[in-house]
Amino acid sequence: MKVSIIGGGGRVGSDAAYALQLGGVVREIALVDMNPDMAAGEALDLRHGSALSANQRFTSANDYSIVENSDCVVITAGSRRKPDESRLELINRNVNLFKAILESIRGVKLADGATILVVSNPVDILTHLATTSGIVPEKQVLGLGTVLDTCRFRSLLADHFNVNATDVKALILGEHGDSMVPIFSSATVAGVPLASYPGYTVDEAQGVFEFTKKSGAEVIRLKGGAGRAVGISIKEVVESIALNQEKILPVSSLQTGTLGISDISLSLPTRVGRKGVHQIITPSVSAEEREALHKSAESLKSVLAQIS
Ligand code: 2OP
Repeated sequence: MKVSIIGGGGRVGSDAAYALQLGGVVREIALVDMNPDMAAGEALDLRHGSALSANQRFTSANDYSIVENSDCVVITAGSRRKPDESRLELINRNVNLFKAILESIRGVKLADGATILVVSNPVDILTHLATTSGIVPEKQVLGLGTVLDTCRFRSLLADHFNVNATDVKALILGEHGDSMVPIFSSATVAGVPLASYPGYTVDEAQGVFEFTKKSGAEVIRLKGGAGRAVGISIKEVVESIALNQEKILPVSSLQTGTLGISDISLSLPTRVGRKGVHQIITPSVSAEEREALHKSAESLKSVLAQIS
């Protein structure tokens, strides 16, 4: 499978490429960036590791010629948030760039059944724009959404309870942003409901969520921008597409009525495979969590109304 990363010379795009190299699943990675040297440098650096990783091809360019025949186009390009800036405030700076990227992609012949994975922020709004662009069928457009937040949340809860992070199942759904919703009601540690796990307190669990929610800004403050966990999250989605694994991941996609939410892109549990969104799963949520998800949808719709 050929994957093109628009923004591949940047921090998120290059970390995604590196994660895909270590995964060894995709066959070709094309890095597109407005800075040709950065894209070429990342491609060469990745190429150097091939002998100890996988049989993959790496290409780079500052135009879209190398995107042709891609099976998956990952869009990471965009301005980074400032530490005190919300993702939605980014919108004015990123929407115009994103629309230009979409038109460049529209001009390229993609592989049959190609998918688009949006990572750029505000990811839910930009996912919605990509979905309604008509470049590929709606179900073939996904956004990274709260896959990253869910990964962070599981990892940070594991730190708190001193357990293996892979044994923590705890979803964050809704907006990848200020209105994201932790689904405590179904969270478990090794199959034990979180609320029953030794050492659990409501305040401490809520504290872990609050730290999760501001983790993106904290990483920006400390090192200038996130990349590692974002890259791993992108790899999880791309490889579920590549291998048709049908993993159920909280990707962002156009909602059509699950939990009563429609006409906006946000994250709900989704079966992800070769054709993108195979099925949106109705999550088990409490009444409060359902209400919070509706508020998340309304928050996103109010922003979308400002740019449409
Ligand atoms: C984050 O939360 C980049 O939005 C991404 O770090």
